[in-house]
Amino acid sequence: MADYIVAEKALRELRRSALLAALFWTLLLVGSFLWFIHHAREQSVALAKKEAEATINKDLSFRYWATKHGGVYVPATDETPPNPYLSNIPDRDITLPSGKPLTLMNPAYMMRQTMQQYADIYGTKGHLTSLKLMNPMNKPDDWERKALEEFEKGVKEVSEVTELDGKSYLCLMRPTFTAKGCLKCHAAQGYKEGDIRGGLRASVPMDPYFVIGKESMNKFFISHSVIGIIGLVGIGLFFRQNRISILRQEESRNKERIHGKFLEDIIESLTHPFYVIDANDYSIPLSNSAATRNFASGKNTCYAKTRGRDVPCSGSAHICPLDEIKRTKKPIKVEHINRDEQGNEKYIEVHAYPILDAEGNVLQMIEYTFDITERKNADAALLKLSEELENRVMNRTKELEEKNEELERLNKLFVGRELRMIELKQKLAALEKLPDDDTGGKSVT
Ligand code: HEC
Repeated sequence: MADYIVAEKALRELRRSALLAALFWTLLLVGSFLWFIHHAREQSVALAKKEAEATINKDLSFRYWATKHGGVYVPATDETPPNPYLSNIPDRDITLPSGKPLTLMNPAYMMRQTMQQYADIYGTKGHLTSLKLMNPMNKPDDWERKALEEFEKGVKEVSEVTELDGKSYLCLMRPTFTAKGCLKCHAAQGYKEGDIRGGLRASVPMDPYFVIGKESMNKFFISHSVIGIIGLVGIGLFFRQNRISILRQEESRNKERIHGKFLEDIIESLTHPFYVIDANDYSIPLSNSAATRNFASGKNTCYAKTRGRDVPCSGSAHICPLDEIKRTKKPIKVEHINRDEQGNEKYIEVHAYPILDAEGNVLQMIEYTFDITERKNADAALLKLSEELENRVMNRTKELEEKNEELERLNKLFVGRELRMIELKQKLAALEKLPDDDTGGKSVT
């Protein structure tokens, strides 16, 4: 697969996982925030319920206190007139020695007044009601009726957040049981001790609790947003960093690819065999086709590929350039004699060059070779020719020398004869001393 496709795929995957991480992170925070809202609301409701419980408990104990006393006498006023429903109770209305009229207040009446006051001041409403009413004023609303019916089935309490006059209230209702003291006034309705007489409801306004919840929700929202943004920035940075490193990798791969191709082209352009040989295992990591054309089969080592050997050449007659390079760490030039398939001798000139690491150890060796057989043969032919010429010159010289000697000898011979001829002529002349000789007959003496 091409590198740029790899990089593109890696980038796409990285982008996808970053998006997924961002999405997951956002969902996590939103989830956490929603959970918190739910939890905050639940907590507000729980707190309001606690207040409602406290109100009911206080009301009940207040009621039982009043019941214990069989009701409470208060001054009879316009605001608190004698209760018509107590008309059958003796001593409902009494007069103090001072002449001030007092009237008996039953617990429900008393509660109604205090509850009303409480609601006006604090907002928390209370209501005592029953399915079987003594006073129609105390009649239950729909919610209370349902709760009272639930109590008849054995439910211990009913609570809910509902709307009252357009506002949210936590309503809690608990049953009120008929105690002994209640019978004084309620026995006539047929109640016995332990019966559910009715129910007491407390309605706590939710607004103050919602305000508290909202405040902490705001804080939670701010902290979550900050954490969320930090997380997203972190994911973004992580993505960026990874993206940069992927791009860098691709860039260096590109460079390698270009360099690699460039190097390949250069090596390939050489018409002579070129190899890079590993100094450790004699393998050939790089070679051009001028080299591979002549490669023998076998494993990828210089001795197998170029010489068809099973073991390195060290120790053989063949000089191993790598051994030399390892020893000297310097470029060298050696000559090898190889044989081609026809068994002809081939003279190869080997140039070897060391590649060293930072410590100066030989890592690899560059080798390029030239076939110098033709040159060698030409040299040899020239040598032979010149030898022949020399021989010929020598022979010719010898011949000439011999001829010369002969000539000299002949010369000597000729010269001797001449002299003798002269000598003889002289002798003859002397002997004759005749007038008709060459001197004209004149005596020369
Ligand atoms: C002194 C008499 C008296 C006593 C004691 C008394 N009540 Fe009542 N109660 C009344 C009267 C009268 C009413 C109805 C008039 C009113 O609402 O004031 C009433 C009303 C109620 C109501 C409201 C529903 C309705 O019928 O109007 C409930 C519930 C109730 N009483 C429960 C009790 C319980 C429970 C006790 C005992 C713990 C108790 N009462 C003790 C006199 C009494």
